[in-house]
Amino acid sequence: MRCTLNINGTDHPLLLDPRVTLLDLLREHLKLSGTKKGCDHGQCGACTVLMDGKRFNSCLALAVVQQGRRITTIEGLATGEQLHPMQAAFLEQDGFQCGYCTPGQICSAVAMLDEVRAGSPSFVTAVKAQQPVDLSEHEIRERMSGNLCRCGAYPNIVRAVQQAWRKEKA
Ligand code: FES
Ligand code: FES
Repeated sequence: MRCTLNINGTDHPLLLDPRVTLLDLLREHLKLSGTKKGCDHGQCGACTVLMDGKRFNSCLALAVVQQGRRITTIEGLATGEQLHPMQAAFLEQDGFQCGYCTPGQICSAVAMLDEVRAGSPSFVTAVKAQQPVDLSEHEIRERMSGNLCRCGAYPNIVRAVQQAWRKEKA
């Protein structure tokens, strides 16, 4: 099937087998290997990208049906040489060990802060908040629970997300 996908601000005209997942399109066809394949079953979050600003597991999405959406991968977060504040926070807080889960963690965290700004509830904040919720460690761990880290870098991942949130509020 022919389709055109907008990825990191660039339109890509493509001829694709309709069974190709967005994850395989990114990694195997477009060589955007920042997005990682962990489980390939929607369980680990390593493949998280942004679709129209919302986080999504790209291993669960067929590529051809994403036409008309704005897809952002880890490669598209920085502005030139300027890292996205979440990328900078992960670096400063040492929020990784092997780094395999990191692109997914960062994309997920970027969208998660948007959800918080919009007052989106979580298991920790059961009722829709009128104001952005307080991002406690408990809140961050719950809201980031779809992104697993086999190295167990969670304490520093939490600190990185808190840093990005606090810098934004300051
Ligand atoms: Fe997509 Fe694990 S590779 S959720
Ligand atoms: Fe290794 Fe998360 S840093 S899996």
